[in-house]
Order: sequence, then structure tokens, then C-alpha cells
Amino acid sequence: MYQIQCLNKISPAGTEKFSADYKVGTDVENPDAVLVRSASMHEMDLPKSLLAVARAGAGVNNIPLDKCTASGIAVFNTPGANANAVKELVIAMLLLSSRRILPAAEWAKSIRGTGDVAKLAEKGKSQFVGPEISGKTLGVIGLGAIGILVANAAHSLGMEVYGYDPYLSVDAAWRLSRSIKHARSLDEVYANSDYITIHVPLLPDTKNTYCAESIAKMKDGVRLLNFARGELADIPAVLDGLHSGKIARYATDFLDDSLLGEENVIAVPHLGASTPESEDNCAGMAACELMEYLENGNIRNSVNLPAVSMPRSGCTRICLIHRNVPNTISKLSGALAEAGINIEDMQSKAKKDYAYTILDVTGAVIPETEAHLESLPEIVRARVLAAK
Ligand SMILES: NC(=O)c1ccc[n+]([C@@H]2O[C@H](COP(=O)([O-])OP(=O)(O)OC[C@H]3O[C@@H](n4cnc5c(N)ncnc54)[C@H](O)[C@@H]3O)[C@@H](O)[C@H]2O)c1
Repeated sequence: MYQIQCLNKISPAGTEKFSADYKVGTDVENPDAVLVRSASMHEMDLPKSLLAVARAGAGVNNIPLDKCTASGIAVFNTPGANANAVKELVIAMLLLSSRRILPAAEWAKSIRGTGDVAKLAEKGKSQFVGPEISGKTLGVIGLGAIGILVANAAHSLGMEVYGYDPYLSVDAAWRLSRSIKHARSLDEVYANSDYITIHVPLLPDTKNTYCAESIAKMKDGVRLLNFARGELADIPAVLDGLHSGKIARYATDFLDDSLLGEENVIAVPHLGASTPESEDNCAGMAACELMEYLENGNIRNSVNLPAVSMPRSGCTRICLIHRNVPNTISKLSGALAEAGINIEDMQSKAKKDYAYTILDVTGAVIPETEAHLESLPEIVRARVLAAK
């Protein structure tokens, strides 16, 4: 029976995915795997039994990645599990940054008790006119899990959408609506967009993407959205743009003291992933990643090991985490040949200093062979999975 230790309260949408072959709880001894949300693992002793850690969420700052890799522990996260939650907030913000819904609702509260409110409403409503998004142009910077959903949804709401992502994956390209226009440069996005939304990771080359120089290239009255990371925008430059009227609205998930109270800023306190569904998706995805690794040795969405997966073919499977150094594969095949074991199929990939190899083999893999493999200096962890 596999032992899964939960370091945080994990949504039943995740824990209920485990079959009867798993014991899941907080009081687990010698865990095969850990499920964690925000609990810090930095001070934790990693038991020898531990094969994998899955973080139900995207960030892995609470997990000692280097220590895990050196100990042969695969670390998983759940990228994209909250993408729909962020997409829905961004679509709401496209509308809120257009129609003056929030100030109108505030105003409506303010006329309480002042007379015939229905009449006052008809008189007062003209100050809250705002444009429709249908027929307008949206630029989407970054077409990953979130950017794709935003681009497709905005298109289905009648927007013309320009997408920009120089590193677009093939899988992402398949999921993108064919009607999304392919922008070849950021300047093309800036020149054409009435609305711009950014969905890229914070990296040295993406920091301050919204800056004085880029804002100058945008259309007058552009509406800017930032639901990725606060530092993607140079806030003083955004404020200058708002004050000059170059930027009509700035909507963001990241609070900065200087933004608060600005008339044309819509700032919310990091609500992107704050939905019960998002938590359920993260937990469900983390549980599936662990089961796939423990039962089949397949790796998807690991942050410290490469993605390697092969369907089961009825063979015994040997899974090896090893150092990424020359000659390792030939040493492995030599050791197996000596033990009379034939390799039927294999996959091997490296990620920085480490690599992961799956070997489907015929012939008995006795514990001595497993121990011999693990004793090779290049091998960090060897596991043998029964034929399936
Ligand atoms: N507001 C929230 O609560 C919330 C929640 C989840 C994620 N996020 C943020 O949203 C970002 C995007 O999330 P995701 O799940 O879509 O990530 P993702 O990794 O699926 O997609 C990121 C995309 O950005 C692209 N990219 C990288 N550098 C680029 C560049 N210089 N120019 C254009 N494109 C570039 C990548 O090719 C990739 O397609 C995350 O990095 C995170 O910071 C915010």
C-alpha cells in the first residue's frame, strides 16, 4: 500500500482520487509521497522512503528543490490548474475596464434616501457610459495556459485578438483558436490593441513590459490589464500614462500603494486563483501526477526532473534518476546485460545536472540487480515496478 502524507488540508477533489491501494492522511509513517500546499518543507527531514512531492499549486518556494533532486525525489506542481479561474477574472476585468460598472454601483448606493431614485438614475446614468468590447482589439502577451483561454474567450465575445508569444509550444498552438492573429512583435500588439493583457512569467526580460517606452507605442486611451505579476508593469510609468489620458484604465491583481485611490485603476487583492474550483483542480491534478509516478514511473509537470512518460507494455519497468554525465546509459545497459535482462523499450531525458530514464525490460529483475544499479555512482535512485 502506498503512503501519502498531506502536509496541508487538501481538497477532497484530490484525496478522493487515490484508490484503495493508498493510505492518505497527516499521520503517515515512511511516506512514499507528500502532498503539500503552502507548508514549508525547508526544515523537514526527508525520509528515505520519500519518492515524490506534489505541490497543489504553481509556486514551489516552500520546497527544497535541490535537496529533493539530490535525494532522488521528484517534485511536481500543477501548472494551468488555475488557468480558468484567472481567465474568468480577466474577462470580468475587460468588461469592468470598459463599462463604468463599479463607479456606477457606488453612485447608486450614494443616492439612497435622496428622493425618487428611479428618476435620479435616469438623470445620472450618462456619466457612466462606457464602450462595448465586441469589435475592439485585444492584444494578449503570452499564450500559455491562461493566455490561450483569455484569447479564445475574448474572440468568442466578438473581439479581434492579436496573440504574441515567441516561445509558443506546439501543444499551445493546437489549443489556440485559428481566428487569433499571430503578432510577430510586441510593437505590433501595441500599435493595434485597444486592450492589452499580459500572461507571461516574471523574468528579467519580461519585467516592466508595461513601461514608458512601450506605453508611448500604444493607442491613445488603451486599457491595460495585468493579472500575471505586479513587476511586469513599471507603476510610475503606468501612473503617468493614466494622468496624461494615454491609458484609459489599468486593471490589476497586484496592489501597489500608489495605485490605490486612482480614479482609473481597478485593483483587486490577488484574486486570480481564488475560486473553490481552482483549489479542487490543483488537488486533483497533484494526486494524478503522484499516482502516475508511483505506479508507472511516468513524469509529467515535474519542476526538478524532465518530462518522461511511456505507456505500460506488460513489461517490468526500471525507473532511474541519475546524474547527467556521459556513459551512464551504456553502463546501465551493460549492468542489465550482465544480469541477463533485455531492454524492450526505453526513454531518457536530461534536465540540467540530472536525468531520468525509464527502461521496460524482460527477464527477472531480482533485488540484487536493483541494488547493483543503485550502487552505480551515477545513479541517485533506482526503482523497479512490477510488470503491468
Ligand atoms: N493572478 C493570479 O492569481 C495568477 C495565477 C496563476 C498564474 N499567474 C501568473 O500568470 C503567468 C502565466 O501563467 P500561465 O499558467 O499561463 O503560464 P504558462 O507557463 O502556461 O504560460 C506562460 C507563457 O508565457 C510565454 N512567454 C514567456 N516569455 C515570454 C515573452 N518574453 N514574451 C511573450 N511570451 C512569453 C511562454 O512561452 C508561455 O507560453 C504566470 O507566470 C504567473 O505569474 C497569476
